Amino acid sequence: MNYETIDHIRFNDGADGVIILDQTCLPGTERYVCLTSLEEMAEAIRSLQVRGAPAIGIFAAFSLAALAKKDPADSASGILSRLRDAGDALASTRPTAVNLSRAVRRMLDVAGTCDGMTADALRDRLYREAMTILQEDIAMCRAIAGHGLTLLREGDGILTHCNAGPIATSKYGTALGPILLAAEQGMHLRVYADETRPLLQGARLTSWELQRAGVDVTLICDNMAASVMKQGWVQACFVGCDRIAANGDTANKIGTSGVAILARHYGIPFYVLGPSSSVDLSLANGAEIPIELRPEEEIRSRWYAEDMAPASVPCYNPAFDVTDHDLITGIITENGICTPPYGQNLPDFVKK
Ligand code: MRU
Repeated sequence: MNYETIDHIRFNDGADGVIILDQTCLPGTERYVCLTSLEEMAEAIRSLQVRGAPAIGIFAAFSLAALAKKDPADSASGILSRLRDAGDALASTRPTAVNLSRAVRRMLDVAGTCDGMTADALRDRLYREAMTILQEDIAMCRAIAGHGLTLLREGDGILTHCNAGPIATSKYGTALGPILLAAEQGMHLRVYADETRPLLQGARLTSWELQRAGVDVTLICDNMAASVMKQGWVQACFVGCDRIAANGDTANKIGTSGVAILARHYGIPFYVLGPSSSVDLSLANGAEIPIELRPEEEIRSRWYAEDMAPASVPCYNPAFDVTDHDLITGIITENGICTPPYGQNLPDFVKK
């Protein structure tokens, strides 16, 4: 199976809802579910059936297109107020990845321009906008992969955290893009995938995606990163991002900042890869990025046959952390490799 054939978010004119590959069932089961109501769509984002910053933006865009299609109103204005409520509901499911709120805003802005038109004209416009968001993401990921590949040499070891592969985006992914492109070109790389507690995106998703693509991947527990770095097995760290502030501070999956600190200690370059749709120049620094807090149960009992902690012990479960910009060697967007000072250089790497 070629990773390019993974078609994990589907919506077409004939569909009754949005069909997704349910990522909570991976790697054991490849299960596709069709989400037809706003409640199901919002819950799919919340529960990580669909996840990864660009992917949730794409999914929300198709969800709005699907909801407009099902709406019985025969004028655009009849659909619009329900669509705005749906957009608010979807955007509020996960606060950290700016791609989600941005895609929703873009769809609602486009919808607003259709006020006074027929319902079908609005539906058609929304479908086309969602397709454009998807196509743009494919192009951005492919470009990121190309830029990232220029940093790699035959035999290099790369450490990655969480999952920033095709199923977190559209195609190729961000952090995994250069690795998958290298594999396509017959280059041999070694990848160390952090398992990524507590939801195991590295174990369940990254190692699954890379194995399918024939990449040499070794799964490690998060607390083994220092050990593999110390042994000289890692030449670069590639991670994705959920939001990059104007000064280069970057929110990504919890544990990412620890990887960056270790990489600095061992003299290993640390790269953040993400589309310009993940850059939020309206925020001065990482302290302004909202960080999602998730249920305690994910730490205490998820994945275990019985609780692995006293039921009453308080747990702190932030889904993301912020890596300080001065730990980041480069930020790779579709427009190239941005190096410090990010406050000055980042605007040139963001889609105008
Ligand atoms: O909570 P998740 O699984 O949605 O977190 C995903 C990440 O942190 C990814 O690294 C990020 O969204 C980039 S995906 C290209």
